[in-house]
Amino acid sequence: MKRDLISVLDISDDIDDLIESAAYLKKNRAKHNHPLVGKSLAMIFEKPSTRTRSSFEIAMVELGGHAMFLDARGMQIGRGETIADTAKVLSRYVHGIVYRAYTNVAMRELAASSEVPVINALDDMEHPCQALADLLTIKEKKGQLDGLKVVYLGDGNNVCNSLLLAGALTGMHMVASCPPERMPDKTIATCAAEIAEGWGESVELESDPYKAVRDADVLYTDVWVSMGDESDPEYARALFSPYAIDAELLALAKDDAIVLHCLPAHRGEEIAAEVIDGPQSVVFDQAENRLHAHKAVLQLLLE
Ligand code: CP
Ligand code: NVA
Repeated sequence: MKRDLISVLDISDDIDDLIESAAYLKKNRAKHNHPLVGKSLAMIFEKPSTRTRSSFEIAMVELGGHAMFLDARGMQIGRGETIADTAKVLSRYVHGIVYRAYTNVAMRELAASSEVPVINALDDMEHPCQALADLLTIKEKKGQLDGLKVVYLGDGNNVCNSLLLAGALTGMHMVASCPPERMPDKTIATCAAEIAEGWGESVELESDPYKAVRDADVLYTDVWVSMGDESDPEYARALFSPYAIDAELLALAKDDAIVLHCLPAHRGEEIAAEVIDGPQSVVFDQAENRLHAHKAVLQLLLE
């Protein structure tokens, strides 16, 4: 039975093991264990990518397998072939499909017709592989996850949705500080809050960024204009500017707070240059951890 990773919820029972496995693979990167020899991965991208695309490809190489990048614009999907037919055909060639899609509907359509595992490399609802790397990074820096206060600031988007779920599953106190009109997805926030309750924790939605960041262990932000959401960047700038992580906001968090950003970043918009390039920023370790997290995911789903 194939297993997909479309939402963080698909790895609810494995999230701790995946973080541990990613940490192990990071530590033992030079050992060249090749559990995926003979396995191939198709990587369909409808939107641009630097980190996700390259780290999945290198992850496959380092695990002994092969990755094939497919730009959706160069595929027959762009000329009217259905997603279902694409999934059925690719399932005859490869052992897994990584998919970056405009919509979660398309993601689920591909997964429904695929006979091999489908891994969500970002859609408009979630970015689960990112969240896994984020947790690995926080654990490395803080030594634990449960009980930490993590505050996400800005647009309640795909990255925010997955982070809320992943944080709730690992016992963190999650806060989404977003404008009321751009809070995270309601169903996901409710689900994360229910999971958090099991830990005696909560998920807070707090529109006041100054209140939200007090005593935070982790501050996190993402772009104000996501891919596929470029209709009114000026409106986005005006709406989100109070949520920018600058030195003044960071000073309200704990002294040893760390700052995460999934990247790409826009210095002077969602994050000040002095913060992202400053001593509390861990964004490049976070970006590196995409590789190790993807290896853990590929091993779990493809081996
Ligand atoms: N964070 C992230 O997913 O980056 P890319 O868009 O470069 O893959
Ligand atoms: N929220 C952003 C994340 C980019 C990695 C987007 O969807 O474009």
